Amino acid sequence: MAQGYEVWGLVRGQANPRVRQLRQVLGDVKLVRGDLLDQGSLISAVERVQPDEVYNLAAISYVPMSWQQAELTGEVTGLGVLRVLEAIRVCSGISASRSPGRGQIRFYQASSSEMFGQVRESPQTEVTPFHPRSPYGVGKAYGHFLTQNYRESYGMFAASGILFNHESPRRGVEFVTRKVSLGVAKIKLGYERQIRLGNMGASRDWGFAGDYVRAMYLMLAASEPADYVIGTGVTHSVEELVSLAFEVAGLDWRDHVVTDAAFIRPAEVDRLCADPAKAREELGWEPKIGFEELISMMVEADLKLLSTSDHHAEDSFGPDSW
Ligand code: GDD
Repeated sequence: MAQGYEVWGLVRGQANPRVRQLRQVLGDVKLVRGDLLDQGSLISAVERVQPDEVYNLAAISYVPMSWQQAELTGEVTGLGVLRVLEAIRVCSGISASRSPGRGQIRFYQASSSEMFGQVRESPQTEVTPFHPRSPYGVGKAYGHFLTQNYRESYGMFAASGILFNHESPRRGVEFVTRKVSLGVAKIKLGYERQIRLGNMGASRDWGFAGDYVRAMYLMLAASEPADYVIGTGVTHSVEELVSLAFEVAGLDWRDHVVTDAAFIRPAEVDRLCADPAKAREELGWEPKIGFEELISMMVEADLKLLSTSDHHAEDSFGPDSW
């Protein structure tokens, strides 16, 4: 890895098809089995890997699914954080009477701007109160407070990044940026004629995932653990996103976009906008890629993907991964 890290990924389930996808983009990652629903498996994973740092990016992360499977979302997105923290605590021998020593495992929790939900102020900072609007947002708020609590209770190096929407050509196709970039590419190449979308009026602070991963790394490299809002400070509506994506391909969105009530959520987060001042001042972090560049990158990547396909990656665990 560019930073000289040996990276391990936690894989759940039997013959998980995502291993194949992972191998296509990141051949060097080692894999260990484990499941956020299974405390013992996480303890075994920490014992096996002996990590210096643990990044908990795992969640049921598609907001609409959190209404359909609310209990599972609570278990994975919420209680999963507790199980990872407990695995680190137990493996490190930390207790109420035994503090972490030097060289302790550093923990990063992927908190979310969805915790702000129906926002109390704008832009949102590390101290803006939460009003989550989905079971997903509620689960993330639990994980966020628990991360703070383990820091305060046990002195663990536990940092929480409140990340606003972060996108790239690797984004899952269920999320709106990728749904649109892939849809535009399909229309441009003549495979499809329209995209069906939900609320075009919602606004998000969309940034580039690569910039945000750099922020996560900086949080764990800091001298003290803390919470940081990570976003660009600029917000755009879904309609602006759609308009730009079609423009990149030389098309007019009005000819191709249909609104569909099936994609309207039971409760919506209308508008999110980050104030990343603390990350800028304390971590020296700033995003390098803006909204226009990001959306152009995604549309162009999908045009290329649909023109050239490559499916030759390995889908097995390495022999040393067990
Ligand atoms: N997915 C989707 N599909 N969203 C749509 C659509 C559609 O057809 N039409 C409109 N939208 C609107 C949604 O209603 C929402 O307001 C906005 O587009 C963004 O939706 P998503 O891309 O699904 O992302 P999200 O904001 O709900 O959540 C993402 O960002 C969070 C960080 O703030 C996810 O990555 C979360 O896991 C993450 O925590």
